[in-house]
Amino acid sequence: MARFTLPRDIYHGKGALEALKTFEGKRAIICTGGGSMKRGGFLQKVEDYLKEAGMEIELFEGIEPDPSVETVMRGAEVMQKFQPDWIIAIGGGSPIDAAKAMWIKYEYPDTTFEDMCKVFGLPKLRTKAKFCAISSTSGTATEVTAFSIITDYQKGIKYPIADFEITPDVAIVDPELAHTMPKKLVAHTGMDAMTHAIEAYVSTANCAYTDPLAIHAIEMIMNTLVKSYNEDMEARDAMHDAQCLAGMAFSNALLGIVHSMAHKTGAAFADLGAHIIHGAANAMYLPKVIAFNAKDPVAKKRYGVIADYMHLGGSSDDEKVKLLIEYLRKMNDDLNIPHSINHYGADGLPAEVGFVPEDVFLERLHDIAANAILDACTGSNPRQPSQEEMEKLLKCCYYDTEVDF
Ligand SMILES: NC(=O)c1ccc[n+]([C@@H]2O[C@H](COP(=O)([O-])OP(=O)(O)OC[C@H]3O[C@@H](n4cnc5c(N)ncnc54)[C@H](O)[C@@H]3O)[C@@H](O)[C@H]2O)c1
Ligand SMILES: [Zn+2]
Repeated sequence: MARFTLPRDIYHGKGALEALKTFEGKRAIICTGGGSMKRGGFLQKVEDYLKEAGMEIELFEGIEPDPSVETVMRGAEVMQKFQPDWIIAIGGGSPIDAAKAMWIKYEYPDTTFEDMCKVFGLPKLRTKAKFCAISSTSGTATEVTAFSIITDYQKGIKYPIADFEITPDVAIVDPELAHTMPKKLVAHTGMDAMTHAIEAYVSTANCAYTDPLAIHAIEMIMNTLVKSYNEDMEARDAMHDAQCLAGMAFSNALLGIVHSMAHKTGAAFADLGAHIIHGAANAMYLPKVIAFNAKDPVAKKRYGVIADYMHLGGSSDDEKVKLLIEYLRKMNDDLNIPHSINHYGADGLPAEVGFVPEDVFLERLHDIAANAILDACTGSNPRQPSQEEMEKLLKCCYYDTEVDF
């Protein structure tokens, strides 16, 4: 038996934020990040609309990018005191993900972070509150997904929490929120969305319900991401929808090892002063993983179908896979994203010398590969890598060398 789960309501299009006026409840907590939503005036609108709906409001601000276990626990304490019946998370993937995990802890105060990370092992939520997610970046689609990514900074590892229980009740996909994104954020989150759609399409859990969403998202992202990066606001509006479609696909079809590798390298070098930003990591690793997965005949065929939808040409599946890889690498160039970790600067832009030195990378390679294999996204990848293969793959991502195994 398979399951296909989405939020009960998805409000989309300009002005969708106003849907908040129709919410019913007594107390709403608004969870948000470092200030971009306040600066854009969106936080004030959310407060006004919820007050118009007759709700008492509490704010939980300052959720950091790649949120920590500690932030989750602090937020849950505030919820415990305020007893909201609505949790409204607004911002990028980080505050929304953090709020999802706070929700679990709020509903079940004895739950530990380890308990939360048991894949599809959460108890029933919604005994205390419902959840509304309002995305301001065009990438993670966490407003519609069954996932939340929380970082354990002691271990330097990002853990996915995965369960349909944390699929929000309501998603608001209002493109105006995405207009204030700086170019680098557009690039990184957009390639995150492209990776979601492609990984969902070739995942072993793909199905007739997820395929149309994934393939249409790929086409839309191909047609709008670079334009959106170059400040075409109509294209940016379309990207906000496209990333959500990709999210609907991957929340139900799951992902693959591009994400496993991005999760396990993301914070692995945080002690050197930077993260490998999620979307940028995906953008760099995706072409390498496609070459690796294409050794699986079913996956190769599916990449061929993607290439056909993208009108890339090619007369055999091998050729189509090659053209797809070339196309994605060109997108990275157009979006000013590096091709490999050794050229990934601390600011997320291409650099002559990246922030991760070769010796540190090689020293940590064994553990990163082992953790990536254990990541919740590995199980649905079309080809299961051995420890040796994962190390080789990660090396190709470090040096930008060809994947021929
Ligand atoms: N839950 C999921 O299904 C899922 C999927 C993929 C990634 N993730 C996780 O999501 C996180 C990344 O989220 P993200 O890429 O959305 O970025 P983010 O939430 O980390 O935000 C990055 C920065 O952009 C700023 N920002 C956000 N929206 C803005 C706007 N409209 N205008 C100007 N600035 C804005 C934020 O203040 C922040 O400084 C990672 O932790 C990643 O692992 C989750
Ligand atoms: Zn992602």
